[in-house]
Amino acid sequence: MSRLQAEHLYKVFGRRPEAAVERLRQGADRDELRADGTTAAVIDASFTVEPGQIFVVMGLSGSGKSTLLRMLNGLLEPTAGQVRFDGQDLTALSARELREVRSRKISMVFQHFALFPHRSVLDNAAYGLEVQGVPRAEREKRATEALELAGLKGWEQSWPDQLSGGMQQRVGLARALATDADLLLMDESFSALDPLIRRDMQDQLLELQKRLKKTIVFITHDLNEAMRLGDRIAVMRDGRIVQIGTAEDILVTPANDYVAAFTQDVDRSRVLTAGAIMADPETAYGTKTPEGRELRTAQDVLDAAPATVSADTPIIELFTPCSTSGVAVAVTDADGKLVGVVPRARLLAVLGEPMTPADQQQDAAGVPAPAQAAPAQAADDAASSGDEAEGKVIAGA
Ligand SMILES: Nc1ncnc2c1ncn2[C@@H]1O[C@H](COP(=O)(O)OP(=O)(O)OP(=O)(O)O)[C@@H](O)[C@H]1O
Ligand SMILES: [Mg+2]
Repeated sequence: MSRLQAEHLYKVFGRRPEAAVERLRQGADRDELRADGTTAAVIDASFTVEPGQIFVVMGLSGSGKSTLLRMLNGLLEPTAGQVRFDGQDLTALSARELREVRSRKISMVFQHFALFPHRSVLDNAAYGLEVQGVPRAEREKRATEALELAGLKGWEQSWPDQLSGGMQQRVGLARALATDADLLLMDESFSALDPLIRRDMQDQLLELQKRLKKTIVFITHDLNEAMRLGDRIAVMRDGRIVQIGTAEDILVTPANDYVAAFTQDVDRSRVLTAGAIMADPETAYGTKTPEGRELRTAQDVLDAAPATVSADTPIIELFTPCSTSGVAVAVTDADGKLVGVVPRARLLAVLGEPMTPADQQQDAAGVPAPAQAAPAQAADDAASSGDEAEGKVIAGA
């Protein structure tokens, strides 16, 4: 069962919201409604978040991210649609039941985390537990642990104004962690921080997540942050989710020109992984090494490969091996079994322009899609590898 499930969620602000939803269902867009003084903040949002996942919602200011997040913990009631948390329909709960779920199972971390200035860091971190009525000794113990997890050991007795902005934000994180909530909702939680501290917080969250395996919905307008943190990413535009997928999906096969434009400045070579772009091992069979030896088996491919990498290797690490050999790089699993190959042509192709939806349609009509594009290219690459000037390829990259 998914931890969190949003089904056809709508949130309309203004007069006669239900009528507005009806119009949206019939194809009206945000601008048409705005003319009547009605704001369609979220339009027909559906997605699931699995236990232990970081689900990122990304979009420009005003695209509806915060509104969507507030519906996930029941702070805002959807105009239409449902939110299920562990299978339970949040929209069907009474106000009291909802408060209970919100205080025990869901924690929220905001962009500007408001700490109580006259409470120690420890008491600030323990605040959520205090609201739950947890006795002092117990809540101090749990808050102390949470502060340590958030990298604030030793600061328990300090006052908030003795902490830097980044540290204060960590107190917010500690407060959320202390409650043992399974679901963390983070709204631009790192956006107010300096770039270096922000990166540090992202690392820390990923590190924490390895141990705690919470389910996290993380909102950001920063694409690089989305790509670093998200197991899956939903891209929002004007109230609608226009694409949901992994970082690789969004980079390699953007759903439309808007997403393509949004992602054009991302450093693909660091986001894309060997596993995301590799082709079936069989595609290398029949190709030849520069010395003219034909590759027939997985072992031949492994022997001839200029490098052997794991599926999660960023493709930036494949350039040097690919530049020195026309033979595909081998991708192996933890047991050393060959699971894929990355031919040089494939590596160069994914760094180029993302495929437009028109290209993708063409793929559907028979031309190989990116993930399957390698067979033809692998053969091409191998065929031309013998006489191809290596320097030319690098210059082209
Ligand atoms: N309480 C409200 N009443 C009326 N309109 C609202 C309300 N809350 C949000 N909106 C409108 O809904 C739209 C989406 O707002 P929302 O705050 O969800 O966007 P966002 O993606 O979180 O933006 P930001 O990145 O700036 O935080 C905006 O047009 C906003 O003006
Ligand atoms: Mg917001």
